[in-house]
Amino acid sequence: SDTEKGTYSHFMLKEIDEQPFVMRRIIQEYQDEHDQLKLDQDIRGAMKACDRIYIIAAGTSYHAGLVGKQFLEKMAGIPVEVHVASEFSYNMPLLSEKPLFVFISQSGETADSRSVLVKIKEMGHPALTMTNVPGSTLSREADYTLHLHAGPEIAVASTKAYTAQIAVLAILAVDTAQAKDLELDFDPMQELAIVANAMEVLTDQKEAIETLVRENLGTTRNAFFIGRGTDYFVCLEGALKLKEISYIQAEGFAGGELKHGTIALIEDGTPVIALATQENVNYAIRSNVQEVVARGANDMVFSMKGLEQDTDAFVVRHVHELLTPLVSVVPMQLLAYYAALHRDCDVDKPRNLAKSVTVE
Ligand code: G6P
Repeated sequence: SDTEKGTYSHFMLKEIDEQPFVMRRIIQEYQDEHDQLKLDQDIRGAMKACDRIYIIAAGTSYHAGLVGKQFLEKMAGIPVEVHVASEFSYNMPLLSEKPLFVFISQSGETADSRSVLVKIKEMGHPALTMTNVPGSTLSREADYTLHLHAGPEIAVASTKAYTAQIAVLAILAVDTAQAKDLELDFDPMQELAIVANAMEVLTDQKEAIETLVRENLGTTRNAFFIGRGTDYFVCLEGALKLKEISYIQAEGFAGGELKHGTIALIEDGTPVIALATQENVNYAIRSNVQEVVARGANDMVFSMKGLEQDTDAFVVRHVHELLTPLVSVVPMQLLAYYAALHRDCDVDKPRNLAKSVTVE
C-alpha cells in the first residue's frame, strides 16, 4: 500500500521511484474520454478573469511555483509573482486589480500559507489551492482545489509532490491558454507521457548516481548547484534536498551570478553540480562551469540528450524544454538520497524538520 515501505529501505526512495506512475495518474485524472483536458469550469473562469497570479508557497512547493510561473506566463499569458508564504504575510506587495491567489502545498496544512489565505480571503480575493490532500485546511478554505494525485508522501523531504505540482501547473497553464483561445504548440499529455518514460529510465540508473556520490560528495562540507533559466530553479530544489537530508551545506545559484560573490568560496575540490538542459543558455552555463573549474572546482554536469558533452557526469533523456525540471530533478533527488545514506543520516526523518509545519 501507499503508506508501507514494502521492499524499500526508505520512503524517500520509494517515492522517487513512484514519480513515473504519478505522471501517468495525473494524465489520466486530468483527461476526459475524448482526450481533452478536464478541469473544473469554475477554475477556468477564475483563471480567465484574473489579471495577475500570486503563487504562495513554502519550501519545495515554493520551488515548484518558480517553475510554474514560467508555464503560466509563457503559455497562458498571465503575469505571475511567486512568494514565500512567511514573507508575504508581513510584507504584502501592491496587488493588481484582479488578483488570483494560487496556494501550492503538498500537505495543505502549512501555517505560513494558511495565514496568507486568511488575509486575502478577508480582502475578498479568490483563491485556488493545489494540494495532495483535498480535505486539508488550505483546500477547504480556498474557493477552488486542484488535486496533485501524488499519493501519500511520507518522507519529510518532498519528491513526488514536487513533480506532481509542476505537472499540474503545466496542465493548468495549457487549460487556461485553451480557454483564452491562445495559439499553443504543446500537447501536455503527450509531453508528460514522454517525461514519465524518461523518469522511468532514471530510476533504473541509481547505481550511476550512487557512484557519483561516493566519488564526489563523500566527505565534502559544502556543494554548489548552478544553472540558468529554468535550470536555476531546479538548482534551488537540488540544493534544498541535499541540505535537508545529508546536512551538507549546499546552495543553488544562477550561473551568471556566481562571479558576483559566491565564486570566492570555490576551492580545490569544491563540488559544483551544474544543470544544462536548456538550449538557449547551454553555451553560457558551460562557460560558468569553466570559470569554477579554473578555480579548482570538482564539476559534475547534468545535461540533457542533444546538449551533452563528453565530460558530462550524467545525461538525461530529451524532453520538451518547458518540462525539463520534471526529469532533471530526479538525479538531484537521488544525489541527496545517496549522500544522506553514505553519511548514515536518517533519510526519512531528518533532524529539526517536520513533514508539515503547522506553526508560523
Ligand atoms: C516543510 C517540509 C518541506 C515542505 C514545506 C512546505 O518545511 O519539511 O518538505 O516543502 O514544509 O510544505 P507543504 O505541505 O506546504 O508543501
